[in-house]
Amino acid sequence: MRTSRTFTTPRTGPGAVPRTAPRTPFRVRLSAVLAAVATVGALVTAGASTAQAADTPLRDLAAAKGKVIGTAVTGSKLTGTYGDLAGAQFSALTPGNAMKWGSVEPTQGTFNWTEADQIVAFAEAHGQQVRGHTLVWHSQNPSWLTNGTWTPAQLSTLLNDHIATEAGRYKGRIAAWDVVNEPFNEDGTYRSTLWYNGLGSGYIAQALTAARAADPAAELYINDYNVEGVNAKSTALYNLVKSLKDSGVPIDGVGLQAHLILGQVPSTLQQNIQRFADLGVDVAITELDVRMALPSDSTKLAQQKADFKAVTAACVAVTRCAGVTVWGFTDSDSWVDSTFPGYGAATPYDANYAPKPAYYGIAEALGGTQSTEGCAATYAITNQWNSGFTGQVTIACSGAALSSWHANWTFGSGQVITNAWNATCTQSGAAVSCANASYNGTVPDGGSVSFGFNASWSGSNTAPTVTLS
Ligand code: XIL
Repeated sequence: MRTSRTFTTPRTGPGAVPRTAPRTPFRVRLSAVLAAVATVGALVTAGASTAQAADTPLRDLAAAKGKVIGTAVTGSKLTGTYGDLAGAQFSALTPGNAMKWGSVEPTQGTFNWTEADQIVAFAEAHGQQVRGHTLVWHSQNPSWLTNGTWTPAQLSTLLNDHIATEAGRYKGRIAAWDVVNEPFNEDGTYRSTLWYNGLGSGYIAQALTAARAADPAAELYINDYNVEGVNAKSTALYNLVKSLKDSGVPIDGVGLQAHLILGQVPSTLQQNIQRFADLGVDVAITELDVRMALPSDSTKLAQQKADFKAVTAACVAVTRCAGVTVWGFTDSDSWVDSTFPGYGAATPYDANYAPKPAYYGIAEALGGTQSTEGCAATYAITNQWNSGFTGQVTIACSGAALSSWHANWTFGSGQVITNAWNATCTQSGAAVSCANASYNGTVPDGGSVSFGFNASWSGSNTAPTVTLS
């Protein structure tokens, strides 16, 4: 697992994935129905072009880029629509809670692997990787462990035994383990935890070494939050990884959790991913969500799309970035609402499993074509004289939103655009394509954007059909 990241989905046989999503290529199918009667001085709004998105599953888009797209899941929900989407759209699963120490060993020596086993089995049945999460953490530990009094030697044994037991149980079935979770404070000092306080910072190397022994095929990661951009905390992590590598401690990757706030993708994200890659480790975005102050609205959802797209694009841009995992794929299965009061709507699907603009942000960054489903363009001739005319195109969205657009059409009788405003139009022969200006790429749900142009005509001036892309 440490050398090859190529992921393939079995198409036939026992590992085949039951798909609910359409299998057609991710492109825009346009069926334009513009009524083509251009009456001088009257708006031509008799028809509009509509676009259908053909949703290539995210996992197929990601595979084509050599990336993994994952989601955190709750085992008990893996049926019905939730299970269908988790299986069809994602190429990796991370148990949201099921593999944490408090889940698997609530009483010392008594183990409960039910949910973890279920998730691993589901992943294998759907040709998915599993990200093991997490072996060593300060949180969600069993009370017997946190309330106990332990000598350093006892702590060391507890740590080794836990890793041997859990990583050993799933040996060969876990693509990557978040071996150590959240070891740093914001200022880059080590977090004071059961492990650090008892064993010093050496607990990290110890845990990685034990994990390698338990499952030699698994990629071993250190995972943390607020380490997405270049800052004191990520620099501490960088220095740790460098020193671990220098000392020959097994470390294969760094997880950037990416629990982000709307509009706050760090500008240094890609640079930060690259500097870790340059150390000789992989990087993964492990827990992406983008929370917003509730209620959500179309403007916030458009920003959220841009944020998901930017994070995914930063990973796509760096070869050693293995992939992106979202921390829950539906707003009905997110930790955000209960953890950050007043915030929510942090995932790519709404609570009813409808893909949000954020979903299309991920898809676009993975090479999918922007969906324009739910948006339509209307062409109008607002003025016409003997040799010229003024045209106006209005793009309106309902139940959807765009973050950028192109309006495309073919003139039928030799018309030639002479100038345009509120868009950049290019014409090649009869083919016209107008791109949004820097300030009007966003078409919010329930909103519209217009641009205009002047053109020459002679003979006839039939209104063309406008398509969106
Ligand atoms: C969260 C889970 O999603 C919640 O269900 C649980 O109540 C608390 O933990 N960083 C991590 C994850 O590494 O394990 C956390 O998951 C979110 C923050």
